[in-house]
Amino acid sequence: MTKTTILALAGAISGLLMAAPAVSAADAMPKVKPHHEKVLTDCGTCHTKENAIGGNAFVVPKDETCIACHGDYKALAKKTEGLDEPNPHASHHYGAGVSCTACHKEHEKSVVLCNDCHEFKYTIK
Ligand code: HEC
Ligand code: HEC
Ligand code: HEC
Ligand code: HEC
Repeated sequence: MTKTTILALAGAISGLLMAAPAVSAADAMPKVKPHHEKVLTDCGTCHTKENAIGGNAFVVPKDETCIACHGDYKALAKKTEGLDEPNPHASHHYGAGVSCTACHKEHEKSVVLCNDCHEFKYTIK
């Protein structure tokens, strides 16, 4: 091994050591979706003391939290009535009887519940 290889290796190893904690810290802390980054800077807007279960506030927030800013199903259905696919906010199965977070996830990829059974094409966020 030459002196330069040893130096390069040492550099690579310390680089790894420095990079590792930064990556795991970012992984451990759930982030909000890009569309919420500017408006939801306080985790407590969704994770309130009131919806905490057994002292843990990090439970799925109630629909009222989302509705306070986005309007109710009626208002949302109006926004999505022009789609080529059936209105996800006014389905004949659920109407308003399904939770926002059944489809819209905050810290993971959102899912379209309907597509458990159908193959609708939406661009859900
Ligand atoms: C403090 C107000 C606030 C709360 C609470 C909130 N949002 Fe939002 N949300 C916004 C704003 C502002 C935007 C960006 C502007 C827009 O698209 O309406 C946004 C964007 C979105 C978008 C993307 C819309 C688009 O067309 O790009 C979705 C989906 C969404 N929010 C769902 C939710 C859900 C589900 C919840 C509850 C878990 C929630 N929001 C809670 C304010 C809020
Ligand atoms: C059954 C799944 C489902 C549920 C439940 C649901 N959504 Fe959506 N939502 C969608 C889909 C799919 C879209 C995107 C449609 C498209 O543009 O392709 C959407 C779009 C949106 C948008 C963007 C609307 C726009 O301006 O175009 C917002 C905001 C939103 N949803 C909020 C909510 C909130 C708040 C709730 C609860 C009250 C909720 N959604 C419940 C599936 C759902
Ligand atoms: C717009 C509302 C909203 C905001 C703001 C929000 N969360 Fe969440 N959080 C959720 C929802 C919804 C879930 C349920 C799982 C999911 O959708 O990813 C959740 C679940 C969690 C969980 C349970 C574990 C998991 O990932 O499922 C933790 C921990 C958490 N959030 C931490 C945070 C932290 C930390 C912040 C601030 C950086 C934050 N949340 C901001 C809506 C929110
Ligand atoms: C558990 C499976 C399942 C899920 C989830 C589901 N559907 Fe369906 N859907 C069906 C079945 C089965 C039919 C045919 C029988 C019927 O009309 O009820 C159907 C029929 C339909 C029809 C045609 C109804 C008509 O008037 O003929 C539409 C539109 C529809 N679904 C929309 C949706 C939407 C939007 C969602 C999500 C919000 C959804 N479905 C979620 C099983 C499902």
